[in-house]
Parts: sequence; structure tokens; C-alpha cells
Amino acid sequence: MISIKNTKDKILELKNITKVFPGVKAVDDVSFEVNAGEVHALVGENGAGKSTLMKVMAGIHIPEKGNIIYNGEKVKFKNPLDAKKKGIILIHQELSLVPKMTVAENILLGSLPNKKGGRIDWKELHKKAEEAIEKLGCQFKPKDLVEDLTIAHQQMVEIARAISYDAKVVIFDEPTASLTQEEVEVLYKNIELLKEQGLGIIYISHKLNEIFEVSDKITVLRDGKLVDTLDTDKTDEPEITKKMIGRDIEDFFDSKKITEYGEEVIRVENLSRKDEFQNINFNIKKGEVLGLYGLLGAGRTEIAETIFGINKPDSGKIYFKGQEANINNSKKAVKLGIGLVPESRKEQGLVLGMSTLDNISLAKIPYAHNYGFIKNAEVKAIFNKYRDRLSISTTGPKQKVMNLSGGNQQKIVIGKWLCLNPDLIILDEPTRGIDVGSKAEIHNLIAELAETGMAVLVISSEIPEILAVSHRIITMHQGDQTDVFTDEEVTEEKLIKSITSHAKTEEMCKV
Ligand SMILES: Nc1ncnc2c1ncn2[C@@H]1O[C@H](COP(=O)(O)OP(=O)(O)OP(=O)(O)O)[C@@H](O)[C@H]1O
Ligand SMILES: [Mg+2]
Repeated sequence: MISIKNTKDKILELKNITKVFPGVKAVDDVSFEVNAGEVHALVGENGAGKSTLMKVMAGIHIPEKGNIIYNGEKVKFKNPLDAKKKGIILIHQELSLVPKMTVAENILLGSLPNKKGGRIDWKELHKKAEEAIEKLGCQFKPKDLVEDLTIAHQQMVEIARAISYDAKVVIFDEPTASLTQEEVEVLYKNIELLKEQGLGIIYISHKLNEIFEVSDKITVLRDGKLVDTLDTDKTDEPEITKKMIGRDIEDFFDSKKITEYGEEVIRVENLSRKDEFQNINFNIKKGEVLGLYGLLGAGRTEIAETIFGINKPDSGKIYFKGQEANINNSKKAVKLGIGLVPESRKEQGLVLGMSTLDNISLAKIPYAHNYGFIKNAEVKAIFNKYRDRLSISTTGPKQKVMNLSGGNQQKIVIGKWLCLNPDLIILDEPTRGIDVGSKAEIHNLIAELAETGMAVLVISSEIPEILAVSHRIITMHQGDQTDVFTDEEVTEEKLIKSITSHAKTEEMCKV
């Protein structure tokens, strides 16, 4: 085990790393280093190579070229365990816990304490887990099942796991994608704690405000290549953005077009589901984008799932195109003309082992076959259309979705639903994990969909996004609908007030 001498010691260096996948040089001659007691941010557009570079660091990918220097010595990581033994811990973009196991089991997975004779020492297990949880000041218990925790709490389990491994370097890949603002603050505190203990932290995010808040240094990647490494206090957001995408970008304010709305597509009356949401009322017309704004846990996703037939309401009514609709399963929702781009693409949106082409045309396949034979040409045409429209970067239709970058996976889910041309499309956090350039593209796409006469429901926890895309915004807090704002009257201040003035102060983690 190494001891870290002083806070600016280099812990780990990657030198001239190249990692190639079939058809793509994901990382091309990149050098990168982590110092003790420092947060080094890594930024770049979707597919720039950030996750790949970190997977090289964590022993998941073996690079074709380049060296890894650990504490001054050249090392080779043959597998993730090699890297873990040196204290390099990667907290993945999509969390990697075992849902059916307890918090304690997950924290100590791979290093379960044994009694003599090889049996697991449960007492020791819970004690060690308790220690790790306590360090982070979290309220869940070692015996809680991971599947019962919120995503934020699941992430803390991953951090606790890192701590219990005696980590030297912790890599956070998009850690805040599913966290509320309060939870983000807790994460920052935890990062500060790790930093004080002399660990090296790597922080990947598409949210530049976070990068500027949390990091000491920033490295920019573009198309697999190193663009620059800068001190955070000597640069600013416009400079970093420009380095990332090679051009200035327009703000995404007001991508929506002023339109004449058509007939009502959906109306929801007094919709309620116990412990999730109460007395929700809204309608959306053809050509209209309704924004649903609130914090994580406000009940927004639950409403979307109820409209899409995943869950049944306890009371209230849904009218679809003028008729009362009893949507008791998703198949029925799709048949009626409803599409849902879910919040968690990994669980609900994609078949990861299938190709990009198959995923994008998944929803459409029943309509594209000819006496039982799938019309390949038609499916291919669909693929090409949506790849271009959404600027999906893939090596080709056969590339497996699990090998796409996180942001490109999200675009595939959107493409899949657009294929069906639904009357109502629900987009739940549509730009989660999507880079700034593509965000603007998705906002424009939402405007275009509305223009073609679709009714659109957008759920987002990002104020600039909800303001940019919505004609009307309803706000929610802890299951209650709090306000409705038209585009003319809404302001950022009003939105914040609307979701917080009703707030009960409820701390989820002692800080
Ligand atoms: N296992 C793999 N097999 C084949 N190609 C891969 C694999 N992993 C990544 N790629 C490709 O390598 C490139 C870089 O992907 P990577 O996941 O590193 O991007 P990223 O910068 O993390 O993007 P994002 O912000 O979207 O998460 C992409 O073109 C991606 O499709
Ligand atoms: Mg990534």
C-alpha cells in the first residue's frame, strides 16, 4: 500500500494512451494525470472518449498504446481488480449495484469478510458497512435492500464502497445526472472530504456549472483527442465550451416556435395515485409543449408512467383525443398513440445487447414487415433518417447499443419513439447525460415535433431547459400540483418559488 506524501503528489499518470474499438479510435494519444488532494474534471461532447479513458485507468479496457504510471512506477492493469487493488475506483455513469442485495453486501462485494472455515462473517460485514455509511453521514441502514433506495442513495452506496476499498483515486462518471440540488450539495461535501484525505478525484460531467464549482483542473477531450488541460480558476465556461465543440453555441433560450394549437390531445382530471401524486389536472393540445417542472421525487415520473399505462391511477380520469381512456397497460398506450422516452434508459428504453439499428426500429418493426419478413430496406431507411436527424454518432447500424456513449444511447431511445409518430410524446429528462451541443439539437427537435402537430409533455429538473422548450409549465412539489404558468408570465424566480415555497424542510442526509 502506498502512503501519499504531500497533497500535490502525482498519484497516477496516463501517458499517450490510445484505445481503439472496431471502427473508432475512442481515445487517441491522450495524456492525463491525477494528483493527490485535487479534483480533475474531464469534459467533452458525447462520444469524445471520456468514459473510455477512465475505463483504461480502471483496468476495464486495455489500451493498444501508452503507459500507466502509478506512484512513479510503470504498471499494467490486466483487469479491473488490478486497478482496484491500487485503490482506483470508478463510479460508473450507470450505477453498477446489485439491486436484490443489501447495502452492506453491495459495499463489500468482492471483499466479503470471512470467518474461519470460509463462511461469511455477517457481523463484521455489517460493522464495516456501517462505518463506511457513517463517514458519509447517510441515513440508510446496512441491511436495507439497494432496490428500495433512491438513485441518490444508491450512488452513496457506491461511494461508501469506494471508501471501504481504501481508495486512492475515485472517478465519478456523470455523478449528478439523477440527483436533486440538495443531493448534489451532499455529493460535493463528500468529494471535499475525499480530497482532504488526499485522494485524487476525477469528475466527468456535462454540466459546466458543476465543473467550475468542484474542480481544480479541467481537461477537454474532443473526438478522442486531448484538446487542453487548464487550471479552473484561469478559464471560464465560454472558453471550455468552445474547446469542447470547436465553435460558439447559441443559448438555448426559446427554441420553441409560436404556434396555433389544434385540438386537445390529452386531458387529465383529478388524477391521483396514493403516496405518489394527488389531484393532477392539465391538458395538452396538438402543437403544444407542456413542461412539467419540479425536483426529483416530486411525482413527475410517476404521472408519466400512469399516463403510459405502467401504473394504474387510484382515482381521476384521462381523456385521450376526446374519449375517456382506460390505459391499463403500455401496449394500449402505444396503440392509442402515446410514446414515452423514460428517465432511465438502461432499464426501460433499450435492449443493450442488440444493435443500434434494431433498437431504433424496435417499436416500428411490427409495421415494417411483409408477410412475416422484416423489410430490411425499410428498417435501414428508418435508421438512417433518425441517425441523421438526431446526429447519433455510431460506427454503423450493427454497433451494439451497449458500446455507444451514454448520450448517444439517449438519442437512440428518442429515435425509437419518433419512428411511431405518436400523437402525444412524453419526454422524461430528455437531455440527461447529453452534451451542450446536442442539447440544443434536442430542444430544436422538440419544437419541430410540436410544429408537426404532436402534443409534447417534457419533464425536466433543469430550469433553462424547461423555459426553452415549454409553451406552458406546470410545477409540482411532493406530489402536489402547485402552479401553472404561461410562457409570457413565467420567470426563473417564479419557478423556483413555486417548487420550494410549499416545501417542507426534509433533510435526506445529514451533512
Ligand atoms: N465497448 C465499446 N465497443 C465499441 N465502441 C465503443 C465501446 N465503448 C465506447 N465505444 C465508442 O467509443 C467512443 C467514445 O465513447 P465514450 O463512451 O468514451 O464517450 P463519452 O465521452 O463517455 O461520451 P458520453 O458523454 O456520451 O458518455 C464512442 O464512439 C463509442 O461509441
Ligand atoms: Mg460517458
